[in-house]
Amino acid sequence: MKEFTVGIIGAGRIGKVHAESLTKYVSNVRIKGIADPFMNDGLREWAISMGIETASTNYQDIIRDPEIEAVLICSPTETHSDYIQEAARAGKHIFCEKPIDTDIEKIKETIEVVEQSGVKFQIGFNRRFDHNFRSVRDAVAAGRIGEQHIIRITSRDPSPPGIDYIKVSGGMFIDMTIHDFDMLRFVSGSEVEEVYAVGTSLVNPEIGLAGDVDTAVITLKLASKAIAVIDNSRQAVYGYDQRIEVFGSKGSIETGNDLPSTAVISSAEGVTAEKPLHFFLERYMAAYSREMVEFIDAVRNDTDTPAGLTDALRPVQIAKAALASLLSGKPEKVIY
Ligand SMILES: NC(=O)c1ccc[n+]([C@@H]2O[C@H](COP(=O)([O-])OP(=O)(O)OC[C@H]3O[C@@H](n4cnc5c(N)ncnc54)[C@H](O)[C@@H]3O)[C@@H](O)[C@H]2O)c1
Repeated sequence: MKEFTVGIIGAGRIGKVHAESLTKYVSNVRIKGIADPFMNDGLREWAISMGIETASTNYQDIIRDPEIEAVLICSPTETHSDYIQEAARAGKHIFCEKPIDTDIEKIKETIEVVEQSGVKFQIGFNRRFDHNFRSVRDAVAAGRIGEQHIIRITSRDPSPPGIDYIKVSGGMFIDMTIHDFDMLRFVSGSEVEEVYAVGTSLVNPEIGLAGDVDTAVITLKLASKAIAVIDNSRQAVYGYDQRIEVFGSKGSIETGNDLPSTAVISSAEGVTAEKPLHFFLERYMAAYSREMVEFIDAVRNDTDTPAGLTDALRPVQIAKAALASLLSGKPEKVIY
């Protein structure tokens, strides 16, 4: 198999996860360079330990390198659309972290540039690669649940991010619920037509003062006629709570959380099991690896990526409708 050359922009949490997945789980991939404006000695040492050949402060070192065939964009959200457009114009295949942008027009403009360039594009909706959620999607797609009636998604973080991040995140629906909107499309195979969102700040009043919510329930009407409900919290004291149920005419399928072990202690005081895996880096590590494997496979085999341009756009459009509903207090149609 021919060696495939990759460059990474952004050496933060998720940039490192993807570098490690490529190194450990994808055959014949060379990470030629990584760029981050805050590159320092610690990051350089880490890059060397990963076998990454160059570590620079300028993202254009990645985009302009003629040997690099695919770029992973793992920098902050506000850089994504510009970097995607530059990489596409340079003929690089692109994996970009979610979301492309918080502005719909900017996303559409970026999609046009990618489509014109003909490069492959994959958006970082990692939950599509989670073993539990894939089982749900596969059972639903195989017709085992029959006609879908109710889809329930529970998605609660163990703790909220800092207020500085909340202020620039685009709001909980774009930053966090976006994964749940994607999951809904993924497991149901249907588009969302209407959204009714109720939200408040019960975890931290400062989140409310910053103009965001930390607790929400969102009901959604799907084109398939099914009804969905997403419940979100920025703080579940027992850890990362990520569950889905699809209920339909032939039965239901549901998944629980992944635990560090299945050990259960029974004693005179009660019965105790493990808490869920703490957060996304623990729960979704295998999914992140699978995501990289499937991206490189799609580029190598010239097939569609498992999460493409439309998949990148739709959840942001649903998030905008959710935000509009939160403000109006009424159900809102999703504008496509
Ligand atoms: N799919 C997921 O599960 C998931 C999880 C976490 C983050 N993300 C997304 O990944 C992106 C990065 O998040 P993170 O948690 O890794 O953040 P982070 O802050 O840990 O890392 C971002 C990195 O980008 C660097 N950076 C800053 N400005 C830059 C610029 N102009 N050009 C290039 N690099 C720049 C920073 O120095 C930092 O090292 C965000 O868009 C976020 O939404 C996705």
